[in-house]
Amino acid sequence: MLYIGIDLGTSAVKLLLMDGEGKIHKIVSKEYPLYFPHPGWSEQKPEDWYVQTMAGMKELLAEADRSQVAGISFGGQMHGLVILDKEDRVIRPAILWNDGRTFEECDYLNEVIGKEMLSQYTANISFTGFTAPKLLWVRNKEPENFARIEKIMLPKDYLAYKLTGVHCTDVSDASGMLLFDVKNRCWSKEMCEICHVREEQLATCYESYEAVGTLLPEIAEELGLPHTVKVAAGAGDNAAAAVGTGTVGDGMCNISLGTSGTIFISSKNFGVDKHNALHSFAHADGSYHLMGCMLSAASCNKWWMDEIIGTKNYAEEQQAIENLGENHVYFLPYLMGERSPHNNPNARGTFIGMTMDTTRADMTQAVLEGVAFALRDSLEVAKSLGIQIERTKICGGGAKSPLWKKIIANVLNLKVDVIESEEGPGYGAAMLAAVACGEYGSVQEMAEKLVKVVDTVEPDAYLAAKYEERYQQFKQIYPALKPVYEMVK
Ligand code: XUL
Repeated sequence: MLYIGIDLGTSAVKLLLMDGEGKIHKIVSKEYPLYFPHPGWSEQKPEDWYVQTMAGMKELLAEADRSQVAGISFGGQMHGLVILDKEDRVIRPAILWNDGRTFEECDYLNEVIGKEMLSQYTANISFTGFTAPKLLWVRNKEPENFARIEKIMLPKDYLAYKLTGVHCTDVSDASGMLLFDVKNRCWSKEMCEICHVREEQLATCYESYEAVGTLLPEIAEELGLPHTVKVAAGAGDNAAAAVGTGTVGDGMCNISLGTSGTIFISSKNFGVDKHNALHSFAHADGSYHLMGCMLSAASCNKWWMDEIIGTKNYAEEQQAIENLGENHVYFLPYLMGERSPHNNPNARGTFIGMTMDTTRADMTQAVLEGVAFALRDSLEVAKSLGIQIERTKICGGGAKSPLWKKIIANVLNLKVDVIESEEGPGYGAAMLAAVACGEYGSVQEMAEKLVKVVDTVEPDAYLAAKYEERYQQFKQIYPALKPVYEMVK
């Protein structure tokens, strides 16, 4: 049988066709615009996601035996607020995971309701990108829109709704709303009350590998698919990527170098870090995970290459980099503010340490290293909880660069396992569809059978020691600049 994984990303939707043995038959990518209507704001049109997903599906299936398609599922950009009115019209553009507008609402939640209560209700505290503060923002700033809300959903759930007519979500994505009791895997009544949300406005919550329904007849007809095709709930993109890289079970790690950068640690048991610096979320395999999320990762390199240097040839720029571990330039990758571990929407991208002999290659290197140092910040939090990690998987667009993988292996001092396919979320989503269709007994069983490590980038003791010194300097820069970020905001 065939399975479709839909990775609803921030720059594009990527669709992947996979068979029951895990072989990828085809991948299609369709872009859509991202809007920054004010500094620090970030929006997209859900209608664009749908139009491009349908166009992508048609291309994906062009030469396929459509009668063999059994299941579809999703990995979606997390936390985005999609609101529909009673005629199922999208009320306003979706407010995305990297949007920093809700700092006042976050202050209210974290300081007035209090971090302790939030953590007790949801296992997390409020970050500007999370969904609950966005609902409060709409209530405060756009009361006429708030009054029209009939359905609240996350980005990938909008696609599921359009394909099946079922208002659904899954435990991993729901975890990032700050409306969800992560430990007990259900909506939090207390948080609904605090955010003036009625539970019937929220979706029915499934495990990621559960089928929520089948294709609507008109969708099946438009795509030429059997109407029996099952649609599984899917997962937030990080949990889906973890499934796709085999990061399931206990104590496994995955780094995703996409628009955002995440470090994801799977855990059999529920756990919360004392300062809530890492997110504590439900995993798509039925268990839990901890995660640090930086808001700009591969997007820093893209910004530096496309907007500043003005090149598309990333590999050529990286070839000029020779002095690993000796760069005197640092880059703080906070182009959209920062989430983990600083939780500061006012932080900004910063180069520091340039001299007259600084080259373009030094600055490109600083960008790649700055992202690695910022990931290390989250790894340090995990280590402080007694979590021991020696190796990690890696996925996302940035993972295509051998140099970046080498920098990450040495800055984090971890063995970096490269797997056959870098298509983390799309592959994981297709796997969730296959489990929902009964092709495998569990997510873990499927991951063990399908996901293969093809290479490992080992840290080098000498280079890792040099990077250790560099990291010790890097981590002092943010606290020193924090008052400056407040001043220039
Ligand atoms: C995770 C997060 C990002 C988005 C990116 O908390 O906000 O990784 O999911 O799509």
